[in-house]
Amino acid sequence: MQSRTDLETLPLEIVTLESADLPDALALQKMAFMTEAIRHDDYQLAPLEECFAAFAQEFRVKTFLQAKLEGALVGLIRGHVADGTGLIERLSVHPAHRGRGIGAALTLALETALGCARCELFTAAGSANNIRLYESLGYRRFGQPIQDSSVPLIRMEKL
Ligand SMILES: CC(C)(COP(=O)(O)OP(=O)(O)OC[C@H]1O[C@@H](n2cnc3c(N)ncnc32)[C@H](O)[C@@H]1OP(=O)(O)O)[C@@H](O)C(=O)NCCC(=O)NCCS
Repeated sequence: MQSRTDLETLPLEIVTLESADLPDALALQKMAFMTEAIRHDDYQLAPLEECFAAFAQEFRVKTFLQAKLEGALVGLIRGHVADGTGLIERLSVHPAHRGRGIGAALTLALETALGCARCELFTAAGSANNIRLYESLGYRRFGQPIQDSSVPLIRMEKL
């Protein structure tokens, strides 16, 4: 459900990321995930540690979408298909532009781009706002929590 978004009035574009935008996109991801680092007191989260070479390699094999507001990069998401399931990863929205529906719009756009009947993602068990956002989009918790990361994670799926 996307009832609280104001996307019809927001001059927001969601488009495929271009290779020329990779440096800005990685910087945006790191800025976005600082919120999670502060929340969990863990500054070595994988999205913060990702180097440019690894990011560029991901770009070659996954679908990357960016959100642009009046031409400025404000959001990013990536994903790919594995065994028929759409895997949604590293949703990032610029801190100054949160609460406007950009995260929801990016997630829905990536689901459409991947074109799978089932999508899956994981998020921090302690990030209530992330969980609420994904639940509002139709995701539900499933399976066992992922315990082998520094921050406990839960899996969510949308059928
Ligand atoms: C998680 C994250 C991507 C959400 O991005 P966002 O653009 O703020 O997401 P949305 O705006 O779609 O939704 C956030 C909230 O704003 C609300 N909202 C959306 N449009 C709105 C509007 N026009 N007016 C008021 N509220 C609105 C949503 O309902 C949601 O509310 P809730 O917190 O009560 O559930 C962002 O906080 C972020 O980058 N966090 C750090 C990285 C991270 O944790 N990523 C997720 C990894 S799994």
